[in-house]
Parts: sequence; C-alpha cells; structure tokens
Amino acid sequence: MKFYELTPQERRNFLEREGYITHNDARLLRLTPLLREYAADGMIENQVGIMGIPIGLLMGLKVNGDEYNVPMATEEPSVVAGACAGAKIARENGGVNAAIWPLRVIPADIVFQRVSPEQQEEFEKKIEDHNKDMMKVMRKSVPTLTHHNGGIEGISCFSIRRGEFWKVRLWIWPGEAMGANIANKLSEAEAKYLEGLLGIKPLAAILSNAETETVACSVEIDPDTLETKTEPGLSIARKIVDLSRWSEMDDTRAVTHNKGIMNGVVACALANGNDTRAVEAAAHWYASRGGSYKPLSTWFFKPDTRKKILVGKLFMPMAIGRVGFSITTLGTPQLCQRILGAEDLWGTQKVFGAVGLVQNLAALKSIASEGITQGHLKVRSYNLARAAGAQGEEIKKVAKHMTQNSKRTVRQAGIKLAKMRDSEIFEDYEDKDE
Ligand code: MEV
Repeated sequence: MKFYELTPQERRNFLEREGYITHNDARLLRLTPLLREYAADGMIENQVGIMGIPIGLLMGLKVNGDEYNVPMATEEPSVVAGACAGAKIARENGGVNAAIWPLRVIPADIVFQRVSPEQQEEFEKKIEDHNKDMMKVMRKSVPTLTHHNGGIEGISCFSIRRGEFWKVRLWIWPGEAMGANIANKLSEAEAKYLEGLLGIKPLAAILSNAETETVACSVEIDPDTLETKTEPGLSIARKIVDLSRWSEMDDTRAVTHNKGIMNGVVACALANGNDTRAVEAAAHWYASRGGSYKPLSTWFFKPDTRKKILVGKLFMPMAIGRVGFSITTLGTPQLCQRILGAEDLWGTQKVFGAVGLVQNLAALKSIASEGITQGHLKVRSYNLARAAGAQGEEIKKVAKHMTQNSKRTVRQAGIKLAKMRDSEIFEDYEDKDE
C-alpha cells in the first residue's frame, strides 16, 4: 500500500519500523495536543486555547542526491498532496539541486535623524575608532552567542534622503538561530553605547527582515514525465513556460505564483516551529527588491538541447532557525527536525527551498493541465474517504463517489462507505448461498 493509503497510526508504525522516528516520537505524534497548557500560557498573552494544525509528510524529496521526508503543517487540503506530486516528478528527473549563497548575516539598524554630511563623516570615523568597544558591548549583551563565534560580522553606515535618516547597520551572524531576538537585543545595546559616543539620541534600534542569504534551487525535467492521461508532457511543459513568463510580466500573477511557492515553504517552516511571518516578509521583500514585484521562480527550456528539457530555478531567502524559544517550547518542531534529518540549518534551508520549487511545479502543472479545481477536488475526496475510514481499494471508490457528490463531508463519505461495505457483505452472502 502507498503511504497515503495507510491510516495515520499505520503511517506512524511505518515511520517507526523504518527507523525515521522512535517509539516515543510515535507516541508524541499521536498525543493531541502536543503542547501543554502551561507551556502555551507561557508563550503568549491571554491564552485561552490551543489550535491544532495537521502535520503531513512529503515523502521522498530528493535534494542534492539525498532523499528527505519533510514534515509540513498546513490547513490547506491540497498542499501536501501537491508537494508529493511535484517531488515525485523531480525525483524521476534526478531531484532538486540546492545551494546557499552568501551565508547568512542578519541586518539590524540603529537609526538617527537629521544627520548632516559633516556629522556623518565624523560619526563614521568615531565608530571605526571604537570598534573594539562595540565588540565589548556585544559580548556583554549576547554572551552565549559570542561563545559560539556568533555576533557582529560587519558594520556599515547608510544615509537616506541626504541624512534625513542615517543608520548604522550591524551585520549579525546568529549561528543556527533565526536571529530576530539576538539582532534586536544586540542593536538595542549598541544603540545605547552609540548614543553616548555620538551624543545623539537614536530613533530606533531594530532588526531588518531583509535577509541577505539566498537559497538557490534548480531542477531539470524531461517533459515526458509530465504527461497526463489526456495530454502529452511537452504540451504541458510549454504551458508551464508560458505561465512562468506571464508571472514575470504581470505582478498580479507573480504574487499568486509566489503564494503557491509559499504554500510549501511556510508549511515546512510552521512544522519546524519557525516564525512564518519572517519567512513570508523576507520572501516578498526579495521578490520586489528590483522595484517591481517578480516571481521567486522561473521555468524555461534549456537552451541548445536537441530534446526539450524544462528547467525550473528558484531563488529566495529562507529566514528560519533550528534553535530558539518556540522550537524548544513547542513539542513538535524538534520531532519534525528529527524526521527531516537535515544535518544542519543550511541543509534545512535547502530542503525548504526545494519544497517551494516542487510545490510550484505541481501547481503550474495542475493549472496547465486539468485545472486547479479538479486537482483540489480529487485530493479533498481522497482525504474525506480516508477520514471516513475507507481502506485500500475502498479509498479510490469512495473518493470517486465524493467527486461526483455535491455534498462533500466526512459524513457523506461514511454513508457511501457503509453502503459499499453492506453491499459487499450482501454479495459475499449471495455467493455463499449459490
Ligand atoms: C493555491 O493555494 C496556490 C495556487 O494558486 C498557486 C498558483 O496559482 O501558482 C495554485
């Protein structure tokens, strides 16, 4: 049986048997909620409840030659199914290649107002001369980070509108943390120091979500592997290229194209306990950094090949961490990290980027062939059939019925399943009678 045809318990058993998770992990996954009330209360203000979001597994995503099972947390029914479909096509074509460049430094700004050009020069000189003192302030404000060789990697000054705003930008290496808290704490401490040094009060000290580090992913697809029952692969590939060009020329399409990518990326980030808004903010900043909003991925035919090869490339920031408050407080993220099995933060970022690319491929293929509604309908019908308790061959039969039924609920799927089982028992009974 395929992974998606198993019950949740059977899937956990499979993961345990295959050594992806321990017996204790399987128990943890089964317990709902994984988050205890006292921990939830300690996380946010006015806590009154805990919300559950299903975690699904994208099985067998091939990245740089290794296969990963990727936990994804999402409320959108077709996301995990889409990612699995995209990953399957990518796997049949050798998988996704991924790299990161340049390595991550979090920007944090200490901003001053109305700084004349002469003052700017004077301030820059003072900052340069007092670099050692600034490092002392850093070691005092984030000692644990500096023990791990993290901290300020560079300092640069920027003038905005001829000094209407003038900012001292700290470039901070946060180790395997996402870095927001570190960057804020560090910039606030340095702001106090600079106020004394420069004799001018800063307006603010705050991190910037404009992540400098970029994940670069690419995949090469033989169009034949895109074939559907009704359409040749090359025709679909051509439409994928056209869809991609459309998104490059029309920002109102680019934002939807990117939303499809973020469906996968954010689901991974959420399962791993990351700040999904930071991931989104950085991605959309990156998409519009040239002055107009652009797609994060592009699809084109490889030049100069006899046989047409579809190439997909994605570039985007990946503002996540592997350590931090919510990751340790919530029960699931560490477990999801164990299931993912990436060796470090950078490995995780590459996998998340690859998920974005295959998610995008699945969406574009769907739009280019049967249409997104038909695809969603199929996925929803399968989910309902399974939720109603259908097993093995029953799943397909109940799902087919659900696609044709205007009432699509677990109850309706259950009624169909019960009727189906009844008639099978009846048929068996008649067989025995003969
Ligand atoms: C739906 O959640 C995402 C899509 O709209 C993305 C796209 O249009 O490329 C299908």
